[in-house]
Amino acid sequence: MTMHLELEEHYSERYDEASRLGSTVKGRLELARVQDLLNRYLPAPPAAVADIGGGPGVHAGWLKHRGYDVELLDPVERHVRQATEAGISAVQGDARELPWEDEEFDAAFVAGPMYHLREPEERQLALREAIRVTKLGGFVAVVAINRAANLIGSTLANTLIQRQAVVTDILRDGYSPRNDRMAHTTYHTVAQLRAELTHAGLRGVMIHGLTGPGGWLTVMIDAHYGDRPLPDTLQEPDPLRTALECARLADSFPEMVQSSSLLFGVGQRADL
Ligand SMILES: C[S@@+](CC[C@H](N)C(=O)[O-])C[C@H]1O[C@@H](n2cnc3c(N)ncnc32)[C@H](O)[C@@H]1O
Repeated sequence: MTMHLELEEHYSERYDEASRLGSTVKGRLELARVQDLLNRYLPAPPAAVADIGGGPGVHAGWLKHRGYDVELLDPVERHVRQATEAGISAVQGDARELPWEDEEFDAAFVAGPMYHLREPEERQLALREAIRVTKLGGFVAVVAINRAANLIGSTLANTLIQRQAVVTDILRDGYSPRNDRMAHTTYHTVAQLRAELTHAGLRGVMIHGLTGPGGWLTVMIDAHYGDRPLPDTLQEPDPLRTALECARLADSFPEMVQSSSLLFGVGQRADL
């Protein structure tokens, strides 16, 4: 199946991306941390931001609300429709060939293509396009999935035994053709993500732990409780607050980035 067909099928029929960041504790942690880190790197509003692989527009909606001028791009028709219905300027397209002029944006956010494009050359194309449309000195930020995430996440969810072949593929190659969640999903090591961003031309590259070690608390809760009531020890203080505090604390210690399931890489456009 081609990548776009697989994406369309996954996001149109199997998965509701619009509710992902609100319906689980892990999603709510990711949302809060994306906001933390974008706040740190974006210039003050009003500024123009490209949201590449922006899905149904959850982050774009927040940015727009904060006074940014946001343009969203996504290949999935359903996502573009949902974003448009939410009042976001959205276009159907591919990160590897952006429909925008050089230096049209003050910053670009790429949360999707790094883990959906399997070949390193495809990711380089997407990164170079994001850099091309960003002004000199502007930040390009990306989200990637840590290669260790599947091993630890499957263990905490107690699904490692069933998923062992997939987890082994991912640890070895960064993806698995047997991945029932989505064959094209690609997982990075921290060093690989840093190298890819630097190779594309970004300067001063930083890799942050997006969900941080506290993200594993949210994985445990989502996997074992779902919508069921939590035991007393997991109710107070709010585990989301604990996980968020953990991610923020860990952020000051760069070596802790290895323990985060999601990675937030960022660098500055120097020149192409
Ligand atoms: C998990 S969703 C993330 C949506 C949103 N950026 C967020 O962080 O919540 C991944 C998104 O990346 C998009 N995507 C995948 N491959 C892409 C590509 N080649 N170019 C642009 N977007 C892509 C998908 O269609 C999907 O909407």
